[in-house]
Amino acid sequence: MKNLKQIIQEAEKNKVAIGHFNISDCVALKGIFMAAQEMGLPVIIGVSEGEREFFGTKRAALMIKSLREEFDYPIFINADHTKSFGKIKEAVEAGFDAVMFDGSDLPFEENIKKTKEVVDYVESVNPDILVEAELGYIKGSSIILSTSDVNKIKKGDLTKPEEAAAFVKETGVDLLAPSVDNIHGLIFRRSDLPNINGQFQEIRSPEIKFENPKLDIQRIKAIRGAVSVPLVLHGGSGIRDEEFLKAIDAGISIIHINTELRLAWRRGLEKAFKEKPDEIVPYKVLPLVVEEIKKAAGKRLKLFNKLV
Ligand code: G3H
Ligand code: ZN
Repeated sequence: MKNLKQIIQEAEKNKVAIGHFNISDCVALKGIFMAAQEMGLPVIIGVSEGEREFFGTKRAALMIKSLREEFDYPIFINADHTKSFGKIKEAVEAGFDAVMFDGSDLPFEENIKKTKEVVDYVESVNPDILVEAELGYIKGSSIILSTSDVNKIKKGDLTKPEEAAAFVKETGVDLLAPSVDNIHGLIFRRSDLPNINGQFQEIRSPEIKFENPKLDIQRIKAIRGAVSVPLVLHGGSGIRDEEFLKAIDAGISIIHINTELRLAWRRGLEKAFKEKPDEIVPYKVLPLVVEEIKKAAGKRLKLFNKLV
């Protein structure tokens, strides 16, 4: 079976992107895996530090490995947004296929230094494990955000192509996550609903439209032209379909989605409790959650692989 590096090279050559989906539990994993399997597409599962704390670092790695072996399937696992060397080490020792060191809130030189330490360490343990780094600062968090959060993105946080070139050269990373006007989370813009938290009933509907900022496509193109490694687009939730396609053509090879799946998880759970108010058997309640996650991930996988 091809390894993750080969799968990414193949995606780049075919001008498609691999879907990277974050999980907190095996219910979401089931839905994502079913969606990928149905279309025969490779997939990356992401677990951030918080998600790993809940799931278990070793357990998450072993679960993905068991799916890969049982189904002879290209499914991989990434230690997403890892802030410390210790947590990188934990993920490498647990058997992750990729680690993302997130030094994006550090000054440029400090980010280079820390990222290089991670690259050297990972290479000494297993050169097949890919190292991704973030340069620039992708704001937000994988939750429902308000309009005011959008205004907090400053141009200074965006990745500069010449800095990206120097960063990749000096650190030796395998993948780069740039800041190109992408933001983590879903932006809910209806101004007549000022209190998002109090209005969850309204915004959970699948019909609701979110308005995330538009991507800086020219910047993606310029960065990809300046660096020798594939690019990863974070903060995929809420981005419009046509923007995704432009971003892929401009040089994006992996796309991260989290908030959309979290919303689908919540929607599925509420639907299940409504439809089966007296049910206590988890495997009779949870298929509705799996179904919602499968739909949400499947829609994105289809688009990223240009199957629409
Ligand atoms: O690393 C995770 C992602 O970048 C997810 O971002 O929650 O906006 O989809 P998102
Ligand atoms: Zn991210």
